[in-house]
Formats: sequence, structure tokens, C-alpha cells
Amino acid sequence: MDKNEFILSATNIHRQFKTANSVLPVLKGLSLGIQRGKTAAVTGASGVGKSTLLHIMGGLDRPTEGAVTVAGVILGNKTETQLAAFRNETIGFVFQFHYLMNDFTALENVMIPLLVAGKKKGEAADEAEHLLEIVGLRDRTSHRPKQLSGGEQQRVAVARALANDPPIVLADEPSGNLDTSTGRRLHDLLFQLNADNDTTFLIATHNRELAERCDSETQIVDGKVFDHITRR
Ligand SMILES: Nc1ncnc2c1ncn2[C@@H]1O[C@H](COP(=O)(O)OP(=O)(O)OP(=O)(O)O)[C@@H](O)[C@H]1O
Ligand SMILES: [Mg+2]
Repeated sequence: MDKNEFILSATNIHRQFKTANSVLPVLKGLSLGIQRGKTAAVTGASGVGKSTLLHIMGGLDRPTEGAVTVAGVILGNKTETQLAAFRNETIGFVFQFHYLMNDFTALENVMIPLLVAGKKKGEAADEAEHLLEIVGLRDRTSHRPKQLSGGEQQRVAVARALANDPPIVLADEPSGNLDTSTGRRLHDLLFQLNADNDTTFLIATHNRELAERCDSETQIVDGKVFDHITRR
């Protein structure tokens, strides 16, 4: 397959972490390509490097070796400042623990990336309200994270990830701390967004049901791709 068809591509990624007296190799020559508009799961045992891979593919961390291309842009050629701007407009992140700002309301949390992108306050507020409506939180806009349930907090995080209409969303165990049915509703929302907007999703998960709903599944073992299954 032509590499240019991949909206997300990682080639021969190595990532090792230096600790006080040792070097820990985590990713050891991992390559992966995801086509535009697809939902892709990354699976593998705890500690295998799924979050590390998502951070690298999202430009939050740099590989020790190897190249990452996102929407045609080679991340390794960008400075930190350029990367930050690129992330804000191209990639939405949903983390296992949402990292919402506790002193801000749901609406303000979703507004932040819009304001960073240069939107005027009124426009950002309107868009944030619309995004919260999409995730079913129209009547929770003025709640702070601690006044929301875990599932609601996670949906605010999804709304925030969708701000600026990113073509790509990276989700790390998005339903990891939710009960089965709340988790399933969150998954339904992600797949709905994928179908409606053609957003590409790369999702690290231990959840079999979620992994099997994705268009592809890449299993990592010992720092490399062990298996790549394409379902559709
Ligand atoms: N900044 C860091 N410094 C040192 N070691 C790190 C660092 N970040 C991650 N690691 C190590 O890299 C390995 C992979 O971590 P990672 O978080 O990517 O695993 P994971 O596959 O996401 O696991 P889980 O399923 O538990 O979320 C772990 O053994 C972890 O201890
Ligand atoms: Mg992880």
C-alpha cells in the first residue's frame, strides 16, 4: 500500500527511557500506518508501550529513533513550538484520566483549545456549547469537573478533543475508568463521530469489545507489532 494513503504513520519507531542507572527499551522498531477515516485499536499487555506510542504519534514525545508522519507532516522536522501549534489544530487527545482543569467549568475546558487557536471568546463559547451538546452534556456546561460523574467528565474530555475539528483523535483507554454500559455509550459516541465526521481514531485499549469494534487492531508484543488485523 502506498504510504501516502496513511494519515498516521510510524516507521521503525524506537523509544527507550533512561533512568538513574539503566536504559529501558520500550518500543523496538515498531511500524504502523493508519488510513484516513478509520478507527484503529492498539492493544497489548500493560507496560508494553501503548501510551508511549500514542504520545509519540501525537507529537507529545519524540522517538529515540524512527519517523512519524501525521497528515503528511513529518513531526521530527518541527520545533516544540511548531509541534504545539500543529497538535492544537490537527490532533485531539482523550486520555485515560481526563486531565480537565478543575478550576474551570465544562464549557471553559472545551473553550480553551478554541481560544488557543485564536477564536474570539463569544465564538469559542458557542462552539464549546455545541460540542457539549453533541456529547449529551447540554445541561452540564457550567459544572466543574468535580461536580460531574466519571462518564460525564470523560465526555467533556471527548468534547474538548473535538474542538477545532481535528482530523485525528488519539484516545488512550478512553473508557478505562467507566462501568461497562457507560463505557459502551462512550464508545458509541466515538464511532458516531467517526461516521459523521470521518475523524480518524487511534485508540489504545485493554477493552476487547472496543478493540473488536475498530476497523483494525494492532497488537504490540515486546516493543514491536506482533499482529495487525484489518476488520474492514
Ligand atoms: N517517562 C518515562 N520514564 C521511564 N520509563 C517510562 C516512562 N514512560 C513510560 N515508561 C515505561 O515504559 C513502559 C511502557 O509504558 P506505557 O505507559 O507506554 O505502557 P502501556 O502499554 O500504555 O501500559 P498500560 O496498558 O498499563 O497503560 C513501562 O514499563 C513504563 O514504566
Ligand atoms: Mg497506557
